[in-house]
Amino acid sequence: MAALKILVIPGSIRTGSHNAKLAAAAAHELALAGAEVSRISLADFPLPIYDGDLQSRSGVPKHAVNLKRMIGAHHGVLIVSPEYNSSVPPLLKNAIDWVSRVQDSHETRGQVFRERAFAIAAASENRLGGARCLAALRLILTACHALVIPNQVALPFAADAYDDMDRLKHPADNEALNALARQLIDISQRMM
Ligand SMILES: Cc1cc2nc3c(=O)[nH]c(=O)nc-3n(C[C@H](O)[C@H](O)[C@H](O)COP(=O)(O)O)c2cc1C
Repeated sequence: MAALKILVIPGSIRTGSHNAKLAAAAAHELALAGAEVSRISLADFPLPIYDGDLQSRSGVPKHAVNLKRMIGAHHGVLIVSPEYNSSVPPLLKNAIDWVSRVQDSHETRGQVFRERAFAIAAASENRLGGARCLAALRLILTACHALVIPNQVALPFAADAYDDMDRLKHPADNEALNALARQLIDISQRMM
């Protein structure tokens, strides 16, 4: 059987991002569980704020097409997002909006969401761990017809969650990430 490929997308490009660290820890768990993992940065896919006039004038930007194809080259996707004002930060929402407008030939629009499993995680410095962002992100992805797996990880008190090597300090956090990784792999495999 072909190797199962999982794409990990941190929703923050901030230096020292708690979510980028959680994405790295999740990528490690996914690799340990047998997946071939790619971790990208949305900084490599710079996009203007979505504007229908811009799309009518110039089409979907090349970076949105590239991001959509990057997603399409994987069997499953993990998005690890910060919470901004109880919701999804504009960097990530805008990327999803643009990707949802990409239509490659021989595909229907949004096919890239329908054909693979998505998992979601968040890290926040407060006690809720970005849980409200996860609810919003699940809704957005579901609206795009993605299958979002039931397990999710909300990492609270993220400023104190990592050791000097950026590994998760608390076994319970590692266990939650491990369960998420295994369920994403399992469901992605069934959808292959
Ligand atoms: C505009 C803005 C709104 C925020 N709103 C929330 C929020 O609603 N809930 C929360 O837990 N943290 C909130 N935060 C704090 C972020 O969770 C914190 O900055 C976090 O470190 C961002 O993720 P990162 O470290 O991956 O960049 C907000 C931060 C910003 C800049």
